[in-house]
Amino acid sequence: MVDLQGQYAKIKDVVDPSIEEVMNSAAFINGPKVHQFQKNLEDYLGVKHVIPCANGTDALQIAMMGLGLQPGDEVITADFTFAATVEVIALLQLTPVLVDVDPVTFNIDVNAIKKAITPKTKAIVPVHLFGLPAEMDDIMALAKAHNLFVIEDNAQAIGASYTHSDGRKTKAGVIGDVASTSFFPSKNLGCYGDGGAIFTNNDALAHRIRGIVNHGMYERYHHDVVGVNSRLDSIQAAVLDAKLPHLNSYNTARRSAARKYNEAFKNHPSIITPTGLDADDHSDEHVFHQYTLNLKGVDRDALVAHLQSNNIPCGVYYPIPLHRQKAYSDERYNEADFTVTNQLVKTVISLPMHTELDDEQINFITSTVLNFINSNS
Ligand SMILES: Cc1ncc(COP(=O)(O)O)c(C=O)c1O
Repeated sequence: MVDLQGQYAKIKDVVDPSIEEVMNSAAFINGPKVHQFQKNLEDYLGVKHVIPCANGTDALQIAMMGLGLQPGDEVITADFTFAATVEVIALLQLTPVLVDVDPVTFNIDVNAIKKAITPKTKAIVPVHLFGLPAEMDDIMALAKAHNLFVIEDNAQAIGASYTHSDGRKTKAGVIGDVASTSFFPSKNLGCYGDGGAIFTNNDALAHRIRGIVNHGMYERYHHDVVGVNSRLDSIQAAVLDAKLPHLNSYNTARRSAARKYNEAFKNHPSIITPTGLDADDHSDEHVFHQYTLNLKGVDRDALVAHLQSNNIPCGVYYPIPLHRQKAYSDERYNEADFTVTNQLVKTVISLPMHTELDDEQINFITSTVLNFINSNS
């Protein structure tokens, strides 16, 4: 699904010396590279505070801790996402409230959020799924009207832009009260191990979060709040700082691959191609962490088997809705409220998507998909 070796080969000249600097300095934890990357990412995103941490799951948890959410507080998030989003809500003894998604964008359905708000609701966690920002203007308006926090799960959409209704563009992850991201190797900005970060424009929240990531300490051995140990190590920061200047071109390469895929599948009666590329002014919105088709009347399992037999990797993100996962099922949920997610889990398929895809590979992938669908429908 990704080609991290091919990508590394092209930036080895920059990455290796950056890692070597850390090795020579032996400043493995909280070294200058971490600070340098943090500053560079703040500039890139246009956000006041980036607080690096150990991974994207911690980033979400720490964001929620920083906001002071309390056990029993309800947190609304999408049913169609990676489990990390709901996991940390449950872990903090908050009450996850899963809601359905939009059939076109696959992102959280704003009307479903509206219906799920109760007096106990304290926060909304939109996930910018597969690299496409959620409907942030509507979500922010709803949050404002109900006095709710908004925590953007930006693990899949770093570098994506969001075009506000007044035409302003901002980066995904700097719109809500706070956001989390992941630098897992396969992410759009990935390191060579685990890594994550929290972003916010709120000075007081940033201060709280800086303490939380470091055992609740602001002064050595003075633990003012309950914290965790969640650090981005200096070697990972060195990798990320070397890769950050390439992020825009990486995302452009992903969009270009997506455009070619879309072109090949255009107007096919059994294939719905992803949105996010059509309108010119929205052309930098979707950063295609995943390229995901929605199939109509196709035997997906057979297509998966066919692709595998042709050595084409593919993925099903996600095969089970979170509300039906054992850990998160709840009698309050009503199947009728999850019609879109319940359908998508049966019909989506993600094709290889990365920065190194060439035309020959794309042609082979698209013709293999089309041959199968055309001869089996
Ligand atoms: C939407 C979403 N949220 C959170 C995470 C968690 O990130 P990490 O794997 O770095 O903990 C991921 C990672 O896969 C993700 O896709």
